[in-house]
Amino acid sequence: MEKIIIEGGVPLKGEVSISGAKNAALPLLFATLLAPGVHRLCNVPALRDIDTAASLLQIMGAGVERDGDCFVINSDRVESLEAPYDLVRTMRASVLVLGPILARLGHARVSLPGGCAIGARPIDLHLKGLEAMGATISLDHGYVEARADRLRGARIYSDLPTVGGTENLMMAATLAQGTTWLENAACEPEILELANALIGMGAQIEGAGTDCIRIEGVEQLRPMDYRVMPDRIEAGTFMIAAAMTKGDVCIRGAVAECNEALISKLREAGVSIEQKGDLLRVRGPETIKSVNIRTRTYPGFPTDMQAQFMALMCLADGTSVISERVFENRFMHVCELQRLGARINIDGHSSTVTGVTQLLGAPVMATDLRASASLILAGLAADKTTEISRIYHLDRGYERIEEKLSALGARIKRVPA
Ligand code: UD1
Repeated sequence: MEKIIIEGGVPLKGEVSISGAKNAALPLLFATLLAPGVHRLCNVPALRDIDTAASLLQIMGAGVERDGDCFVINSDRVESLEAPYDLVRTMRASVLVLGPILARLGHARVSLPGGCAIGARPIDLHLKGLEAMGATISLDHGYVEARADRLRGARIYSDLPTVGGTENLMMAATLAQGTTWLENAACEPEILELANALIGMGAQIEGAGTDCIRIEGVEQLRPMDYRVMPDRIEAGTFMIAAAMTKGDVCIRGAVAECNEALISKLREAGVSIEQKGDLLRVRGPETIKSVNIRTRTYPGFPTDMQAQFMALMCLADGTSVISERVFENRFMHVCELQRLGARINIDGHSSTVTGVTQLLGAPVMATDLRASASLILAGLAADKTTEISRIYHLDRGYERIEEKLSALGARIKRVPA
């Protein structure tokens, strides 16, 4: 076990490069199961969730080799059809093997993910969609078992837009017989990224990035050669780090066009943001203004930035209301931010944050991935020392975060707990 220690109060300055997007890389890795052959996926971040995905691919029979930030995956031999509980419970995105394995082998067994820190997060919509495509689904000792000799195209309306559900069904539909329409599909940039990679593999997909995606099934796909987009959530986290420390940071690979909701809210809070090509220069204001946010599916304000934005609002001049509309239990960071002196009240799906002039360093505990990021941000701005334990959550989604922050002047180190 390790912990992170931060001596707060240093304005961050300099340039930082954003790594490949975890949430884009994971479905892309699983999409390699769709086609035999040797796939190459580059700009893959070094993260614990990526290691879990690589282990899962190996369990299914694929060969996985790393060459710097590239993965070379040989999926000629994909024989196992089971995603075991031990891996699925550590990473929910493991359920994304269901669509590709079912489409390729006609049979898949995937452990049900169970609960997670930020809510119940069922996969009923993934299963309903596969059933509509002709799969027989049963539950067996904690596993979902899906069978279909060949999936059939179908018109599938999702009760709510789900990112993983849209990805799973889009992958499955690429090899189905006939045409599939995914209606009320999620529109996240990572879905467009997956569609682009699948199109490169020979899939016929139209409308990805909108709420209606049309997929014309093909007989077979070829291997992918793809470079993962930068991580918009990591970029957003660095924007807030600059803002909270009254810093001046240039972010390379900030994917500004995918971060419009966040950027407009940061500007409302008084943060200066200028785009120069691939670089985004972010400068923190003397006084942070209070701003209300409500998380939504894309292009709304991302739930994965809610905890970090709340950390920023803890230092705002005034009161802001932060409303979480995507997950039912995503305020785990509140108690820990309170330990640093934040004034926050939770009322159901909303939290009211009354800004304080100074956060005060203290020992805190990370509870989930983005909650960990909010504690790092608060620690960077807080007076004296913040010690964050249980940082394995952080390593699921942020590549070399303490190195990147140190290079911007932060006094941050990782030590054995
Ligand atoms: C993905 C992201 C995660 C992000 C989330 C929302 C990955 C690997 N993870 O997660 O970082 O926070 O999108 O932007 O890309 N739901 C159902 N039934 C289903 C599926 C989902 O009710 O079958 C509900 C969930 O409980 C949740 C909402 O739909 O309330 C959105 O979840 P979803 O978009 O599926 O999130 P993930 O794909 O799990």
